[in-house]
Amino acid sequence: MYNPFGDYVWEFRSPRSKFGPGALNELKVDLERLRVEKPFLITTKGWVKRGIVDRLREILGKDVPYWDGVEPEPSAESVEEAAKALAESGADSVIAIGGGSALDTAKIANLLATYGGRVRDYVAPPYGEGKPVPGPVKPMVAVPTTAGTGSEVTSVAVVTLKDVGVKVGISSDFLRPSLALLDPELTMTVPPKVTADTGMDALTHAVESYIAKPYWARERPEDPAKRPVYVGSFTVTDALAERAIELIGKYLRRAVYQGRTDLEARSGMLIASYLAGLAFGNAGVGLAHAASYPLGGRYKVTHGEAVGILLPAVLEFNAPANYEKAKRVGELLTGEKCPERDPAKCAEWAANAIRELQRDIKFTPGLEAVGVKEEDLMEMAKETLNQKRLLATNPRPVTEEDVYWVYKRSMRNY
Ligand SMILES: [Fe+2]
Repeated sequence: MYNPFGDYVWEFRSPRSKFGPGALNELKVDLERLRVEKPFLITTKGWVKRGIVDRLREILGKDVPYWDGVEPEPSAESVEEAAKALAESGADSVIAIGGGSALDTAKIANLLATYGGRVRDYVAPPYGEGKPVPGPVKPMVAVPTTAGTGSEVTSVAVVTLKDVGVKVGISSDFLRPSLALLDPELTMTVPPKVTADTGMDALTHAVESYIAKPYWARERPEDPAKRPVYVGSFTVTDALAERAIELIGKYLRRAVYQGRTDLEARSGMLIASYLAGLAFGNAGVGLAHAASYPLGGRYKVTHGEAVGILLPAVLEFNAPANYEKAKRVGELLTGEKCPERDPAKCAEWAANAIRELQRDIKFTPGLEAVGVKEEDLMEMAKETLNQKRLLATNPRPVTEEDVYWVYKRSMRNY
């Protein structure tokens, strides 16, 4: 379907990247290339306990100042604390080592240490001032130690405003790390549940960006400078998402069950989450991410759990926008052809392939299992519609009733 008012340009943005078991050992060269001399480490207490500070001293031949207060769902307060430590250190660059929380903390701390101010200055209204990020921040090396968020390649960082109990994103091209350093050896000790949850986040990124509204279906911006960061799906993001889905189908079960010894599976998953990060960091996501926000505020669910539980129903709901892509999701994930002829049946078959994978890795079976009650669904559905930035790239328009249907269908996935 051609749209005469649609955009006719897509843009692809990505940091320099490197991958390999032991790639962290090359960090000295990477910092030299970035022309920086005084890096500052932002990480978790767990990684300090596991000796990461000593390891960096060995690799770089000098002491690296650090801050290790990263919280699981980083609060604005903790991020501001990290920013203060970074600013006081006089560092010229940032190394972030940890899961998505460490990377997101480092992105915003880097912003605040470079330009001053507080988290809320950069958060969109009604919760903040909505100031744009003024310009480049210090060079940042992102070293993910879980395979899920893709934060090492994206321009967004998520932070929790504790006083109002909401999670908000700060997004700017300037926040994209300078280097994504992917070392699968650092992911070997991730426990099975975290492997499953983060793996489902990666799968949701891949599927949602794959089926996202095509870039030409989005309205053309008056000024090219105003083109959104999430432009909708295009041929590059399609290629990345397809490969990510395939890798997750092949390796997630192994990473969950034998992750401590299976370097091949860990490598496959780290590459998959990286590819999916590149795909959604350019194309955008959709309804599963939008509808996950009200869940995060009310129940004890991780981000990966929330989006993963909703993903099968979201795929079914969005399938009429592009039945061919919905079917491909199932084929890439299973390595098999759809046994049905009816496109709607193939979409359901693809959604069931996701449900089967979830059952195999003992992923949370549905909303019921995290305590969601049917009487809460309508209010959450209303709230979901506020996530306009995320819904802008969903392939179908979404009403309250649609979100309600997705929640209801996600009460029990298996
Ligand atoms: Fe996500």
